Amino acid sequence: MAAHSWIGLLLMLLVVPWASAAVSEKDVLVLTIENLSKTIMDNPFIVVEFYAPWCGHCKKLAPEYAKAATELKSHDPPIVLAKLDVNSEENKPLASEYGIKGFPTIKIFKKGGGIVSDYKGPRDAAGIIAHLKQLVGPPSVEITSAKEAEELVNKSQLTVGLFKSLEDKEYLDFMTVADELRTDYQFAHTLDSSFVPDKGVVLVAPAVRLYKCFDEGFNDAQDLSVKGLKKFLEEKSVPLVTEMNKDPTSQAFLSKFFNTVATKAYLLLDLKADTAESYRTIYGDLAKAFQPKGLKFLIADSKENDNAVKFFGIKDGGLPALVVQDKDNNRKYVVHNIEASDMPGWLQDFQDGKIEAYVKSDEIPVKNDEPVKVVVRKSLNQMVLDSGKNVLLEFYAPWCGHCKKLAPTLDALAADFKDDSDVVIAKMDATANDVPSDLFDVKGFPTLYFRTATGENIRYDGNRSKADLSKFIKKHRTTALETAGSTGEGGDAKDEL
Ligand SMILES: *[C@@H]1O[C@H](CO)[C@@H](O)[C@H](O)[C@H]1NC(C)=O
Ligand SMILES: *[C@@H]1O[C@H](CO)[C@@H](O)[C@H](O)[C@H]1NC(C)=O
Ligand SMILES: *[C@@H]1O[C@H](CO)[C@@H](O)[C@H](O)[C@H]1NC(C)=O
Repeated sequence: MAAHSWIGLLLMLLVVPWASAAVSEKDVLVLTIENLSKTIMDNPFIVVEFYAPWCGHCKKLAPEYAKAATELKSHDPPIVLAKLDVNSEENKPLASEYGIKGFPTIKIFKKGGGIVSDYKGPRDAAGIIAHLKQLVGPPSVEITSAKEAEELVNKSQLTVGLFKSLEDKEYLDFMTVADELRTDYQFAHTLDSSFVPDKGVVLVAPAVRLYKCFDEGFNDAQDLSVKGLKKFLEEKSVPLVTEMNKDPTSQAFLSKFFNTVATKAYLLLDLKADTAESYRTIYGDLAKAFQPKGLKFLIADSKENDNAVKFFGIKDGGLPALVVQDKDNNRKYVVHNIEASDMPGWLQDFQDGKIEAYVKSDEIPVKNDEPVKVVVRKSLNQMVLDSGKNVLLEFYAPWCGHCKKLAPTLDALAADFKDDSDVVIAKMDATANDVPSDLFDVKGFPTLYFRTATGENIRYDGNRSKADLSKFIKKHRTTALETAGSTGEGGDAKDEL
């Protein structure tokens, strides 16, 4: 055993220096905050890896990136690879300037920084080389035969431009868009209308057509300006209704749906039920009608997406349910047991501001006599916010292990304070009750907050021992002002939402 590890150590000592010597990083430019801008300006196509020295993925990428840099050094047109340690003190301001949230973040700067895009390609040397060569090549393929066009269209979503001449403004605008959006879409163009698959509607130059494998199958752009084309692609390249399922082809659409900031509609129902088709049809028509107003639509099979059903707080027996989440105030609007034919009217009412926001809440428990009090969204105002008491409130999830571990401590703490009528130890299931995000920042479980009698919210980040919690309560507790007592009249304590 000892001999083995000794040999292992020897091998490591021998191999490691050789291995790192084999891949030299000499062709990767090292940049700092001082020379990043100038280097971007001097190179028409430059890739910059923003890294941190401690980051494992960065270390793994380093030799592959270095190999690619050496291979691409002599490429025509030139492709330059660079790296920048964004973790070092002097470079830190660049993290916010370039929106660096994780490591490595790799960005491509073209035309002196006029066009910036994220590198989304492979991470091995051969993959990096192939991907970058494709990105530095022409942004749109020239189609040379009808068969070639058909093959391209069969293979993937494709945007085809048909032009009268390569000097036309429409062609130049098309190429500008193609260059800017080449990591997201594929572009092709031709001057010969007979090469363009007509799909029953013959194209007349100048025109741009998007071929896709859902909804109408293709769309023709109305506005061929740069702005118009971008809007056209953004709108038409995703299905009118995104379907939430495990199908690999849906994943790109789903991530686009969730990453888009918009007011979103969700229809949850059993897609295997006989009535599902009529819901789909009407929902599809609604999507078409409301798309110009900026609404996005998703449909989910309730049987396969139990988490979504729970997340939206859909009541048992409440399906089919239609939910709208408003992008402006982040509120949810929910209608349970909706008939297909009632969806258009309800959505119109939402649009007209006639629907009240929905707040997810468990029912107020009839009995609440354990030492740790149960708070639900409906009783949050009365029991915590307007209670005039000092409340230690735990936000928990039923499945959370750390919460279960904390439970006996909170029980004992509550027992200690049971004769103190100004202190309450309480808990709220944050998966079943909406947490007002303007008051409490709950991103993990358990999250503990102390709400003082005078209405201050203090987050508890100390250790979870009874002694420390108790010390904290004693230190921060306040006495309610006389006027705060006016909410304690009971009776019709209403929730202001
Ligand atoms: C940028 O500046 C750093 C620090 O002075 C230097 O090591 C590096 O070689 C420079 N890179 C370029 C491309 O000029
Ligand atoms: C494209 O797909 C259609 C339908 O699947 C098929 O009939 C046709 O042969 C394909 N064309 C080419 C060139 O691959
Ligand atoms: C919490 O801190 C106290 C000292 O303040 C210490 O004795 C105790 O071990 C700590 N408990 C935990 C769970 O870290």
